[in-house]
Amino acid sequence: MSGPRLEIRLDQLHHNARSLRMQLAAHGITVMGVSKASLGLPELVRTWAAAGIESIGEPRIETIEALRAAGITLPMLLIRSPMLSQVERVVAQASGSCNSEPLVLQALAAAARQQGLRHGVLLMVELGDLREGILPAELEAVAQLTLEQPALKLLGIGTNLGCQHGIAADPRNMAELSALATALERRFGLRLEIVSGGNSSNLPWLAAGHSPGRVNHLRLGEALLLGREPLGRSALPGLHTGAFTLVAEIIEAKVKPGQPWGERGQTSFAAVATPARRPGSPRQRALLALGVQDVDPAGLSAPAGVRVVGASSDHLVVEADRPLAVGEELRFGLDYSALLRAMTSPFIARVCLAGDNLGDDNHEDANLLSNNLQGNKLQHSKLQHSKLKGNSLLGDRPGGDARRRSSAQTKGLRAADRFSPAGSPG
Ligand SMILES: Cc1ncc(COP(=O)(O)O)c(C=O)c1O
Repeated sequence: MSGPRLEIRLDQLHHNARSLRMQLAAHGITVMGVSKASLGLPELVRTWAAAGIESIGEPRIETIEALRAAGITLPMLLIRSPMLSQVERVVAQASGSCNSEPLVLQALAAAARQQGLRHGVLLMVELGDLREGILPAELEAVAQLTLEQPALKLLGIGTNLGCQHGIAADPRNMAELSALATALERRFGLRLEIVSGGNSSNLPWLAAGHSPGRVNHLRLGEALLLGREPLGRSALPGLHTGAFTLVAEIIEAKVKPGQPWGERGQTSFAAVATPARRPGSPRQRALLALGVQDVDPAGLSAPAGVRVVGASSDHLVVEADRPLAVGEELRFGLDYSALLRAMTSPFIARVCLAGDNLGDDNHEDANLLSNNLQGNKLQHSKLQHSKLKGNSLLGDRPGGDARRRSSAQTKGLRAADRFSPAGSPG
């Protein structure tokens, strides 16, 4: 196969999704899969569905439309407040949206009325990270406005922490979210289906054994895709962290001096890494056909004995402890930022490696489903499956609510947490 490619281990993604879904279900929490770092890859969403993920969150309506066109019928929530200029498209294709602006709610209601649909609304509350959200003191008024619109269905409330200022979910802000949910229910005499506590950055809070309170829903991206929590980027026990691998080809390999020479000015981009160098000592240096246009170079993990030392638009520069060869392929791990950009590059092919039996974590053979720029090709490859033992992120913690909640309660919450697909008749 030519050109750089992202190899995507669907079997590992299945494992992560199933594992998180089951662990969180024991706490009465449903997982919404946030597929945006994969640019809404249909194969990924289907894998998540097979692992029991029942709904998808996406920030961009274009991605939701593409998933619908690919035949995905799962409920989908637009997890960024809709643009006023896109409300018709949002109502037509998304089951619901995250909202914090009265003007947008009115526009959604008008669009839904016009299309004869009812649009789901998750009201986002600002709890300290200073990105999206209604200030708690204003929540009741916005809820009232939502409830006054028959074309809108108030699904519940949610919050988002971690993304802007790295604010962590903690017992205080999560208790505040729970209290706000209960206060709204009392004030309006209703039951909220969803209390969406946040994203992957909520997992350390749960793992610490705190009670979820009213939180019955999390919107997870990074934890499902990369098996990490975003606040400290630590690996979550029992999850795969290497489901995505970026493979790129060497286009120049030479021994070059350890230091540049000549008068220095600005580079085309900020330096990626400046490893300590022995002045003047020659180095094995190589260029790969990959650049800042394709990936965030700072988020790449190079193979052993190789270091990323720089990048410009179309070249990735590495140094190595061994001779490298033109035509040789190197395999890189990716962090969230590198993955997000690599999935967006039209120059990087996506190769989905799907296990023979996605439900079985013991398989070793894998089918290679190539979805590259030209279209779909079917190839076969043999993969060594790294079996993960039954580590638990949340289940073994003392003080967690898993054992205190009956399975009946859990089932009840999961059923109540399901919201309808796009286009519920108004
Ligand atoms: C509103 C919202 N919810 C959930 C997520 C998922 O975040 P994470 O990847 O940290 O789980 C994001 C970010 O993608 C988001 O913007």
